[in-house]
Amino acid sequence: MGNRWSFRKLILNKNAMNFKYIISLLAITVLLFNCSSGDDDPSDPDPTPDPNPTAVTYNGHIKSIITNNCTSCHGSTPTNGAPMSLTTYSQVKSAVETRGLITRINSTSNPMPPSPNSPLSNADKNLIQQWKDGGFLEN
Ligand code: HEC
Repeated sequence: MGNRWSFRKLILNKNAMNFKYIISLLAITVLLFNCSSGDDDPSDPDPTPDPNPTAVTYNGHIKSIITNNCTSCHGSTPTNGAPMSLTTYSQVKSAVETRGLITRINSTSNPMPPSPNSPLSNADKNLIQQWKDGGFLEN
């Protein structure tokens, strides 16, 4: 009898300890979660997180630079005397490989975009160079 009683007590104690342990774990988890999500904006989650955030890719970086600075002339139907379109991955890649795109964006005597358009920022020029050096990643 006595043995049975203390066995029960032991089980009760054990459950009580497990319960405390689980509560502490929950508390720690909640604390950690609150800290780490402090600077996130929950209303603006990134729907397509970049799988490789350090790599320069066409879709992640290059496409928007070209759209903002080049496709007013190098659109899907080129205008203003531009000889080719720069609206797809393969067109931009091929312009780097065969039409001297990087030379032209860095040129002061024969720049792209032509004056009076302002030249690309150094940051954008560097991204295009890094994109080439990295092997023209698309995504
Ligand atoms: C205002 C119109 C205009 C804009 C904007 C423009 N281009 Fe051009 N682009 C031209 C014209 C016209 C030519 C052909 C004459 C020449 O080579 O200068 C040309 C030629 C080029 C060439 C040489 C093609 C060849 O086969 O010789 C490259 C490369 C080029 N552009 C890249 C770009 C890039 C990259 C941008 C954006 C950063 C850009 N262009 C923005 C009008 C434009």
